[in-house]
Amino acid sequence: MSRTLVEQLTDLSTAARAAAAAAGDRDSLDAARVRFLGRKGELTTVLRGLRELEPGERAAVGARANALRDELEAAFTERAAALADAATAAAPGLDVTLPGRRPWVGHYHVLNQVRDQLVEVFFGLGFGVADGPEVEDDRHNFTALNLPPGHPAREGHDTYYLEDGHLLRTHTSPGWVRAMELAPPPLRLVFPGRVYRAESVDATHMDQFHQLDGLYVAERVTLAELRSTLREAARRLFGHDLKVRFVPLYFPFTEPSAQMDVTCILCGGGGQLEGGRCPVCKATGWLEILGCGMVHPAVFRAVGYDPDRVTGYAFGIGLERMAMLRYRIPDIRFFLENDQRFLRQF
Ligand code: DAH
Repeated sequence: MSRTLVEQLTDLSTAARAAAAAAGDRDSLDAARVRFLGRKGELTTVLRGLRELEPGERAAVGARANALRDELEAAFTERAAALADAATAAAPGLDVTLPGRRPWVGHYHVLNQVRDQLVEVFFGLGFGVADGPEVEDDRHNFTALNLPPGHPAREGHDTYYLEDGHLLRTHTSPGWVRAMELAPPPLRLVFPGRVYRAESVDATHMDQFHQLDGLYVAERVTLAELRSTLREAARRLFGHDLKVRFVPLYFPFTEPSAQMDVTCILCGGGGQLEGGRCPVCKATGWLEILGCGMVHPAVFRAVGYDPDRVTGYAFGIGLERMAMLRYRIPDIRFFLENDQRFLRQF
């Protein structure tokens, strides 16, 4: 009988050590410990046989059993420590020398950045900011700007009309009309905003784009002031050695009217780049950047200003074109696709 009990203890010891070694994680190790050493575990069961032994034998086998319990407890504790070490080693290391991760923060769209740069420059030259509705009426978009119904220059604006006769504004110039209707002269304002034209879309045309118009109206505003102000604005934006030229052009709402060109920001006006033709100005050395002119007397009359008392100049800048030149963006469609890979670059 006593031999059997000792044998049973030996078998239990072997089985318990094997179970501890086989446990792959903390939970199965704990379960094995309970199975062998728990209050109702296998060791307890074996020890019930002690009662049937001779007192002398009982003491010897009991002592052996207590020693075994301590050994097995130690074996389980050791295995638990080994499992914990393995888990730590498998976890990704903490490298305290890595730079911290910045939280992702948004930023302005490149077109809004260009708009803000322009607004900032013109603010420095004495201009405030105003805006108007994108859904306009015919009077503000055309008629008051000396483009009466049937005027051939309306055809240059491929217009989206609404059923009630309103339209999506084709330029930001209606802003002048609204500003002059609201306040008497003098006025010195820029009008940034989105405009729409029913264009077929390609790399340089979109059916919606952005402009910034400017208007300065007061007594005795001269063409010389238009010239010097716009040249100064261009230099503040593109650099102080920039040259400008004014090329006569027709707009119904200004007379005289011009397009302002600046020396090419890529080749500096030489037209050549590393021995080849400059791709930005197509070797002309010049870039068109805006339309401008002296406000037509008919526009003043339409808003109730007296053309014999006030004069003014105005200008209109395309923001996409500005951004494309500044950052050499090859396709106007990128601006509204909202592809993060494009937007993140600015
Ligand atoms: N509104 C014109 C357009 O979109 C551009 C322009 C604006 C011409 C202001 C001007 C001007 O002469 O003063 O085509």
